[in-house]
Amino acid sequence: MIKISASHADLSRTVATQIAKYAAEVTAQWGCFTVAFSGGSLPALVCPPLITEFADQTDWSAWHVFFADERWVPRQHPDSNYRLLREQLLDHVPIPTNQVYVMDEGLAPAAAATEYIAKLAVVFGTAQPPSFDLVLLGMGPDGHTASLFPDHGLLAESERWVAPIGDAPKPPPCRITFTLPVLNGARKVFFIITGANKAETLAQIMTKPPSRTRPAGMVLPVDGNIEWFLDTDAAAALPTGLRHAGIEAAIERVNKR
Ligand code: 6PG
Repeated sequence: MIKISASHADLSRTVATQIAKYAAEVTAQWGCFTVAFSGGSLPALVCPPLITEFADQTDWSAWHVFFADERWVPRQHPDSNYRLLREQLLDHVPIPTNQVYVMDEGLAPAAAATEYIAKLAVVFGTAQPPSFDLVLLGMGPDGHTASLFPDHGLLAESERWVAPIGDAPKPPPCRITFTLPVLNGARKVFFIITGANKAETLAQIMTKPPSRTRPAGMVLPVDGNIEWFLDTDAAAALPTGLRHAGIEAAIERVNKR
């Protein structure tokens, strides 16, 4: 499903509505809701309507919040994804603090990645990669998502669920990230993408086979599905059929695997 919004206010409201609705369905069925957030512009786009329009009707006690990636900085550092989400959401809604799973900044990156895998295992078990109810992803102009960057060796990681990266092209260079087995284990993935500088890469992802040059296009959840929430700038290079449909369009991407 593609949803193209003419304004960021409309995009924010649309995404938040879908998150709140899905979270309520999952919570009603299973009693808990597992979600992973990315950083960048995503939290500021997604969280405000969750607070202003859905806070009272959401069972926040059921939410288990993880981070799809984290910059390797202290939690109070301006670059911290944890700090970003704390400011945008966690300080405003009553998600139990022991259900917000933060990466241990006191450990070296590799050890912190191992420790985060252990935190995932507490919630999801160890038999197979975690199957998040929802993973919220952005995309950089180069097609990176989480902290998986074009042509990086981490794209081939098939065992570790979480891994450190020390040479991220997007600063800061040192990060911790979910790997593709976790992203592709999700039941549902929402991509929230805005800005003209992503239009060409997004059009390639939508029209060409998956490629290591475009990691966001390698996110193909086996059992789940992907929903794309775009602004008109990011959607500007999409094939006319998709763009004009604009409202919602299913994408048969299986034949492009
Ligand atoms: C990060 C993010 C990263 C982000 C993209 C898009 O920690 O940097 O997780 O993957 O989602 O870089 O960022 P923008 O939405 O800010 O363009």
